[in-house]
Amino acid sequence: MFLKDNRQTWDKLTEIVENYLEENKDHKTPVVRYEPATKLKSLLNLNLDENGVAEDLLLEEIKKYLKYSVRTTHPQFNNQLNGGFNFEALLAEIISFISNTSMATYEIAPVATLIERKLIEELNKKIGYHDGGGIMLTGGSNANMLAIHCARNTHLADVKFRGNQGKDLCIFVSEEAHYSFKKAVMLMGIGLDNLILVKANKDGKMQAEDLENKIIAVKEAGRTPIMIASTCGTTVKGAFDPIEENQKIAEKYDLWHHIDGAWGGAALFSKKIRDYLGEAHKADSFTFDAHKLLGTGLITSFLLTKREGVIKAANSGGGSEYLFHHYENADFDTGTASLQCGRKVDSLKFWLSWKAWGHRGISEFVDEQLDKMHYFANYIKEHPRLKLIAEPEYLNVCFQVIPPSSSFEINQFNVDLRFRMVKDGRFLVNYSSDEDGTIYFRHVFCNNVTQKRDLKYFLDELVKLAE
Ligand SMILES: Cc1ncc(COP(=O)(O)O)c(C=O)c1O
Repeated sequence: MFLKDNRQTWDKLTEIVENYLEENKDHKTPVVRYEPATKLKSLLNLNLDENGVAEDLLLEEIKKYLKYSVRTTHPQFNNQLNGGFNFEALLAEIISFISNTSMATYEIAPVATLIERKLIEELNKKIGYHDGGGIMLTGGSNANMLAIHCARNTHLADVKFRGNQGKDLCIFVSEEAHYSFKKAVMLMGIGLDNLILVKANKDGKMQAEDLENKIIAVKEAGRTPIMIASTCGTTVKGAFDPIEENQKIAEKYDLWHHIDGAWGGAALFSKKIRDYLGEAHKADSFTFDAHKLLGTGLITSFLLTKREGVIKAANSGGGSEYLFHHYENADFDTGTASLQCGRKVDSLKFWLSWKAWGHRGISEFVDEQLDKMHYFANYIKEHPRLKLIAEPEYLNVCFQVIPPSSSFEINQFNVDLRFRMVKDGRFLVNYSSDEDGTIYFRHVFCNNVTQKRDLKYFLDELVKLAE
């Protein structure tokens, strides 16, 4: 039928994709063909015509799309907390697209519902949640927001009906926490003033002492603390907040303890660094993005909870008339717990990858990435023109390039170098800054195709570019 009638186009597309991926093997293939937005607009044919266009023109547009898009599957793309992808995830994505269903009810997504439940069960086992729950959702940002929603629903009676009831509900996060917490409190009517930023040390870890002092101060001011969110694997430095200490403080003040493990949660699979998440099973909830380190493709996100039913308790309401029927599988319907109505099947990508790789394969992959990170960090330490900014704990390496002459200001030099690198196009690595004005490259070890030789090539070429 559909594919059969379009077999030639499908074959041509496969060839285009094959060539595209093969080109990544050539060092000369740019990661990005940078064009300013106004120029790019003129290079693309964005018009939508009255009569449509023929198939060969569509294929030309696809080629152009690939040409000017950033190649996140290129070994020199180490810019973002996603990059590269698993072949199994690609297969799964095609299948879930073709079967195009919504996760709202078991009735319309029977297999996908069971797969999602299985993933939640396995992840909960890894955390150590024995009676856990969870749901997949549209990103780690939304998982963090849903965690706040669960904490608020647990701490504030009638919140579903009466809102925040004029209370200053306070949430404590590290100053290095992901910005999604800011978005969440803005959206939920909690307000930015009630998102209390706790000091982090120079390696990016939350300081438990400052946390406790801030909780005491907030209580004394008559405000209502409800949640501590520890980050495991901070976005910039990859730091792990002290979860044992934070857990004790959460218990002492009766607060919900959330772990944002969107990035660092992959340590659950590691033999080398599983202990970073030692006491995670005591926390109330846990965010995890498989689309970050595990290459399952955007989006593969989870909110996992220590207790079953807390998500549904916070989110249920509506839809019962036309969607959620009383039938033998009603308990399997996930739409009563999710924020969305239509929800994409994101589970298949991760399940098929996990199935193919096994527990051992994923564990080995995480540990290989750590090995590459150590190689890279050591290379920087030994290089006279490179300087580490913080001792890396996880898969983020922050460093500066030392300018060839003292007439350059080092921070501005690194920013200029980074934008020169983007225009050069061969590499893409992001940069960030600290409060004291230090600006540095942040190299992340996410992309599964980047090898040690690519890492060495990058650093050597970067120093050459700096000359
Ligand atoms: C620590 C941390 N939490 C949450 C997020 C947000 O995840 P997502 O991009 O899936 O919304 C990120 C994204 O980089 C992150 O680094």
